[in-house]
Amino acid sequence: MEGLVDEVMRATLTEATPYDACVTEFARVAGSVLPARFFTRIAPELNEGSRTAAGTPVKVQLLGSDPGRLAESALTLAHLAPAGIDLNFGCPAPTVNRHRGGAVLLDEPELLNRILLAVRAAVPPSMPVTAKMRLGMRDTSRAIEAACALADGGAGELVVHARTKEDGYRPPAHWPWIARIAEAVAVPVIANGEVWTVDDYQRCRSESGRTDVMLGRGAVADPFLVERIRAAQAGVAVRSHDDDWPRLYPLIQRFWSRVLDKVEPRHAPGRLKQWLNLLRRHYVQAEQLYNLVRPLRDPVAVSDALRQAAALS
Ligand SMILES: Cc1cc2nc3c(=O)[nH]c(=O)nc-3n(C[C@H](O)[C@H](O)[C@H](O)COP(=O)(O)O)c2cc1C
Repeated sequence: MEGLVDEVMRATLTEATPYDACVTEFARVAGSVLPARFFTRIAPELNEGSRTAAGTPVKVQLLGSDPGRLAESALTLAHLAPAGIDLNFGCPAPTVNRHRGGAVLLDEPELLNRILLAVRAAVPPSMPVTAKMRLGMRDTSRAIEAACALADGGAGELVVHARTKEDGYRPPAHWPWIARIAEAVAVPVIANGEVWTVDDYQRCRSESGRTDVMLGRGAVADPFLVERIRAAQAGVAVRSHDDDWPRLYPLIQRFWSRVLDKVEPRHAPGRLKQWLNLLRRHYVQAEQLYNLVRPLRDPVAVSDALRQAAALS
């Protein structure tokens, strides 16, 4: 997720719980083919077998509208051996859409198909090529057509974010639409959108008919959500968020030290505040820590506040 789940967050979240895979922020292919150094910058894991330190495979996501440039960029990327190449047709950002990237292409199924065909043909058959889509731009009238265009073009898997671009990130996510798309295409379909809790997962599963979900903000807001979902599936008691704070606090500390290693000092506090702001949905201690950190701009003061937070329980 652009501006939220970079290699620092991926390392942190996959250390908390193993995932089947994770995906980078989108790499925008606009006027020129992207060079290898661009990919290793947004996905340093490419230098480590395309896995996070905890071993979760990392796919790299491309966004663009030019089949030729996307295909050439995908070939450069394929030489770096990512765990897979994902294509983004879900981004709702006006600046991205204005330049014909992301969700705006859902109105052009024929182009979606050409992009997939070009990228699929450019990379070795063994390289997974997948696609992420929303239900449409303004409405869902072409959702099936778009999904079929992607699948027929060679997407090995579709992640469906069950909202239109117009819906933005507003709840609800329209999970029954995922079931309709899954009926129409012959490739695996993964459900996405508005899964924040075990209860959401169970409702998403029953409405979409999918057991596989891609977690977005829910994974960042609760780093143990995957574990909770797996426990519920296995019929084992699901731990409370309060019980998990002692496991979360050291993760936050490690996240902070990774942020300090990567980010300019003046930008570092913002990254921690951004995460705490999501964590406080579930964790009262994160709310307390957020309130301590919110007024601070100096990384040294933030480190002090984090040490104080050891006493929170
Ligand atoms: C800040 C932010 C950045 C995002 N960046 C990306 C991105 O780069 N690529 C992508 O496929 N989806 C991106 N998304 C969308 C999420 O992957 C996901 O599809 C969406 O948030 C719905 O899932 P959720 O309700 O579980 O968060 C982003 C979402 C947010 C909130």
